Amino acid sequence: MVKIAPSLLSADFANLATEIKKLQSAGADMLHFDVMDGCFVPNLTFGASIIKSVKKISSLPFDVHLMIANPDDKVEWFAPYADILTIHYEASNNPQATLKKIKELGCKSAVSLKPQTPATVLAPLLDYLDMVLIMTVEPGFGGQAFMREQLQKVTAVKQMIKEREILIQVDGGINVQTAPFAISAGADILVAGTSVFQNGDYQRNIKALRKGGE
Ligand code: DX5
Ligand code: ZN
Repeated sequence: MVKIAPSLLSADFANLATEIKKLQSAGADMLHFDVMDGCFVPNLTFGASIIKSVKKISSLPFDVHLMIANPDDKVEWFAPYADILTIHYEASNNPQATLKKIKELGCKSAVSLKPQTPATVLAPLLDYLDMVLIMTVEPGFGGQAFMREQLQKVTAVKQMIKEREILIQVDGGINVQTAPFAISAGADILVAGTSVFQNGDYQRNIKALRKGGE
């Protein structure tokens, strides 16, 4: 069954602990943390200290999406609090070495591709990957429209990974309308901010996204 990773980007930051506990009891499979540096993306969110603080209050896996420039020498900051650590292909000078380092630091390793980046760049990285994150919006902000043409990339990645145990995550514009397309293209994990947090009924919203796969 498809897994749902709510993005804390849409949470009420004044009540982060309550939000996390609510998501946990609502059936979230993991928590997605969007780290933005105001450089790789035109928005700024939070760093490792916030993730460290909330790690103490949750038993869910932490899925940390680094939208930061030069992640190669910064993965150490996040690894102690991340179960899955994702870097952007476009931001890294040596994705192969950084993915290897992420694994050595004890995390699952993942690389994310912006909409303009083709799936073919993944070929030399496949042996170092536990997950691939396909962006279905331009990274930087929640609440953007789903780029449906990116699903061709999901299908292409699915074909590339063959028998390897590499999960595919889709991030951006996922809602009850778009989730079924992402799932049938081959997504294993859906990241969702706006559609999980809207109207406050996290349990119903998560269930509705999952249903897209049935
Ligand atoms: C965008 C982030 C996403 C974002 C998704 O840069 O990577 O995780 O929070 O938000 P929605 O679901 O609102 O598109
Ligand atoms: Zn994200």
